[in-house]
Amino acid sequence: MSLQHFLADQLQDKQQLLDLIEQAIDIKTNPSKYAQALAGKSIVMLFEKPSLRTHISFDIGIQKLGGHSLYIGQQNGQLGERERVSDVAKNLACWSDAIVARVFKQSVLDEMAEHAGIPVINALSDLYHPCQALADYMALTETFGSVENLNIAYIGDGNNVSNSLMLMGSILGANVTVITPTGYEPDPVLVSTAQDLAEKSGAKLTISTDIEDAKNQQVIYTDTWISMGDDTKVEQLLEKFMPYQINSQLMAKAGATAVMHCQPAHLEQEITTEVFDSEQSIAFLQAENRMWAQNSVLVSLFK
Ligand code: NVA
Repeated sequence: MSLQHFLADQLQDKQQLLDLIEQAIDIKTNPSKYAQALAGKSIVMLFEKPSLRTHISFDIGIQKLGGHSLYIGQQNGQLGERERVSDVAKNLACWSDAIVARVFKQSVLDEMAEHAGIPVINALSDLYHPCQALADYMALTETFGSVENLNIAYIGDGNNVSNSLMLMGSILGANVTVITPTGYEPDPVLVSTAQDLAEKSGAKLTISTDIEDAKNQQVIYTDTWISMGDDTKVEQLLEKFMPYQINSQLMAKAGATAVMHCQPAHLEQEITTEVFDSEQSIAFLQAENRMWAQNSVLVSLFK
């Protein structure tokens, strides 16, 4: 299987995603088989926002595939300010073989992909975090054997992470329930896209603001209540969001055996320290799999 870009979850079909996950597990199991997969390739990592896991897992992952990576942060200001996004993309393509970008606006990423002539990977945007979702569904495949018909509830703020979880899950046949406080629901256009995908795969997608819907779930997932670039103070959110905190009572009520978090975790806010540190938490499996899943994407882009 080969890919042109990795920009948004819904741009891959079920077979492509299953192949990416299978290949990611193979890379994790047999890393030496892929040690030269990116030999002679240089990948630019362009980040408009902070990063720990994404930056380091791409950097070390590219090295494990025999490639070279170059990180560029915000020293040139926001993309599109100093020069056109299309010109940035065309310049990068003069020297490098692919672009990994973390951006404020998905439209910037799409514009880069349109003009670069080399593959572009979404390392998080306002709308999606597909590298995270791929690592998450890889972790769930390893934990449960398959994600088909798996009941997963995302609880918290409707954001890039929940969008990717719901879209990719709907393609793969997982039953995703997204529960948010009123006013923090996922983007309706993406919900409608996910509904269509779920219909096709036979999955059930549920969007709710009622925390009582967190029942009969095998997996609970949460993320920060305040995403990067949002200057809301957490004190302003506590009243609305505290009923949606992941704690041991909620885990028991949901009947879930696994809890997920993309990290960074804000302990005692969206999740208690007790649950985050518990045996049920697979947050560090998700973090580890970021590298293997991204390497699978990179390998497929250069096949
Ligand atoms: N929703 C979070 C994810 C961080 C990995 C953010 O966009 O900041």
